[in-house]
Amino acid sequence: MRYQPFIYSLLTASIAVAASNPKQQRPLQNNLGPAMPPPPDKTKTSEPAGGDTVILSDVLGNDRSINIFAGFTRDFAPISARFEDSSLNTTILAPINSAIMGLPRKPWEDPKDYKEGGEGVYNEEGGEERAQRNLRRFVEEHVVGVSPWKEGKKVETLGGGSVWWEYKDGKQLIQPGNIEVSSVASRVHNGEVWILKGVRNYGA
Ligand SMILES: *[C@@H]1O[C@H](CO)[C@@H](O)[C@H](O)[C@H]1NC(C)=O
Repeated sequence: MRYQPFIYSLLTASIAVAASNPKQQRPLQNNLGPAMPPPPDKTKTSEPAGGDTVILSDVLGNDRSINIFAGFTRDFAPISARFEDSSLNTTILAPINSAIMGLPRKPWEDPKDYKEGGEGVYNEEGGEERAQRNLRRFVEEHVVGVSPWKEGKKVETLGGGSVWWEYKDGKQLIQPGNIEVSSVASRVHNGEVWILKGVRNYGA
């Protein structure tokens, strides 16, 4: 088996974090100290700290169908920081959970690593860093530093890959790869979250 325990814990931790992340919670609210139970009627109407501006970091965790990808993004501070930055627009291309679970290899696996290092490559010294690096590349290939993003406009992902989208036969497709966009999950101040039915080819 190619699955390593530490990677499993990485994945399950990501899912746990994604699942436990309350809607629209902002880091600022964590600084308020030990939680007092809020008055029951206040929880429903509470607004994100800072008032009316909702940003990507507020909404990425809202849709459970993409919580694996959302969890991955939280492992990388520069990427999370971007989603929290209201002055930087971003289109997040979030593959749906089932697309990630259905991959022939895990997002942190690179065939080149296995070729060079054999089956145990991620258990060796430096293996965890390798896996993290690969996972980061996977995430960055699904983040576009542009929003709004016009049809046909070629842009670079944060990972450096070239990507555009088009309508074809009534479907919105990410190119290259004909990856269908199933919906736009969120439109907020600093960008949009799109849900993809597949993943981009992130390999080297
Ligand atoms: C960023 O997105 C907003 C929409 O939320 C848009 O009005 C604004 O023009 C965008 N800025 C850039 C630089 O694309």
